[in-house]
Amino acid sequence: MSSGDDTSRGMRKGLTSYGDARFSLFLRKAFIKGMGYSDDALDRPIIGIANTASGYNACHANVPDLVEAVKRGIMLSGALPIDFPTISIHESFAHPTSMFLRNLMAMDTEELVRAQPMDAVVLIGGCDKTVPAQLMGAASANVPAIQLVTGPMLTGSHRGERVGACTDCRRFWARYRAGEIDDAEISEVNDQLVPGAGTCGVMGTASTMAMVVEALGMMLPGGAAAPAVSADRRRIAEATGACAVRLAAEKLTPDRIMTAKAFENALTVLLAIGGSTNGIVHLTAMAGRLGLELDLDGFDRIGRQVPVLVDLKPSGQHYMEDLHDAGGLPTVLRELRDCLHLDCLTVTGRALGEEIEAAPKPWKQEIVAPLSKPVYPTGGMAVLRGNLAPRGAIIKQSAASESLLAHKGRAIVFSSIEDLTARIDDPDLDVRPDDILVLQNAGPKGAPGMPEAGYMPIPRKLAAQGVKDMVRISDARMSGTASGTIVLHITPESAEGGPLALVRTGDIIELDVPNRRIELLVEGAVLAKRRSEFTPPSHTGSDRGYKKLFLDTVLQADRGCDFDFLVPESVGVTPDRS
Ligand code: FES
Repeated sequence: MSSGDDTSRGMRKGLTSYGDARFSLFLRKAFIKGMGYSDDALDRPIIGIANTASGYNACHANVPDLVEAVKRGIMLSGALPIDFPTISIHESFAHPTSMFLRNLMAMDTEELVRAQPMDAVVLIGGCDKTVPAQLMGAASANVPAIQLVTGPMLTGSHRGERVGACTDCRRFWARYRAGEIDDAEISEVNDQLVPGAGTCGVMGTASTMAMVVEALGMMLPGGAAAPAVSADRRRIAEATGACAVRLAAEKLTPDRIMTAKAFENALTVLLAIGGSTNGIVHLTAMAGRLGLELDLDGFDRIGRQVPVLVDLKPSGQHYMEDLHDAGGLPTVLRELRDCLHLDCLTVTGRALGEEIEAAPKPWKQEIVAPLSKPVYPTGGMAVLRGNLAPRGAIIKQSAASESLLAHKGRAIVFSSIEDLTARIDDPDLDVRPDDILVLQNAGPKGAPGMPEAGYMPIPRKLAAQGVKDMVRISDARMSGTASGTIVLHITPESAEGGPLALVRTGDIIELDVPNRRIELLVEGAVLAKRRSEFTPPSHTGSDRGYKKLFLDTVLQADRGCDFDFLVPESVGVTPDRS
């Protein structure tokens, strides 16, 4: 197991440059010996562990336990584990939005994996942006890597009713806004929604990313769904450490696993699990790092053939712990077998098809439906195009109201998130249930950071009348835990002068999901005049630092909102810089 004199491995890898390699190694070992390591330990292959514990991040509260279990697996396999901190991002503790920081975390991960000596790395992520950020970074560093997630939280209980973040957060808050529950009860609910460590317990973005990354082959089979506080989660962590040692020995790099066919598998699973719309943005960004372009129309074609099989909130009824009890992703993969590329390599060194064969035999359960009797007849998402979204838009049709999927209505326009906040509950707002709420300037550059503002609240006066859903359209994203007839990711965004910027209150918009269309029914001459009057929004603090970098280089949603300079030139990305 010794890394010997090989300068591409172990402690000899990537020596700090002092002009004398032997002195560099002498100095490096002198410093790390300050932590009590022996020469024997330092002569082993090194497995880095990206430690994303943070006092701000309850979704990662179990990371210290997982680091210990990963270390155990690494040491039992004869290598040396060394954990190191990176940025940790929690959805509710990242102003202006976690998406603003995803690429920063990807850069942090990439540079630390590249800069520090490690023969493989275990990436411990969980909360929404952390897993894509880590895999974007690992893909660019192209060091053998394996993903471990913190795992979903368990459910809580409110007055005997099972609850979990954060579909139920929104459901109870909507009831509170409508006056159905009072201050005392909403406060009680607040205590129960997140009963412990782990990621949101529904098919939100964190669960979605865990599932698609397992399907992609970058995680151990069965690694996505085990609850954060379970013994299974710790055993998966131990096995992940052992697997990382094998990855290092075989020099199995991410580019050999994250192939075009593996991304197709991930997209198929994204549709079949009723996954978060954020999944498509993140997978696009991850693929982009490897020089691969995801085809939105191809994604839509898969969605016409692959139905939703997993009955989890927000599209369905159950929670992630139930999916774990039903066998986790392997149960889904077994159903999807004929829709997958079974020859794709995984971190185990075996093909996906072999892993499906090796999975425990199925048992009777009600969480994953058979292909012959799906939860929803087509894929969870559809890709829309039209004069309002020339480069595409997304709708999570499985979480929408059937009656609104083909709908024509009057636009009620909000020019920014601030405008929305100021006017949505105004009793004098002229709005009817069949209107279409439109939010501008909430995209990658407009907000900035493309926040999850697409789930616009139902105006209070309509909510009080019992209105539960309306068509809502924006260039923003939406939390994977939200539901409704909500069109997202309109590209190009309004801040870039996309057609969304030209919509005015009173215009008629036609949404036609069955035919994948979204159209602004306004004459071309009128739109041309409005275009000539367009001015992009300005942002304070945009003249320096990370915000300037972000605004200068962030790409649109159809390119995963990565920074243009982080995508390999082979993709031929044209900067969106204005
Ligand atoms: Fe972290 Fe939902 S807030 S997964």
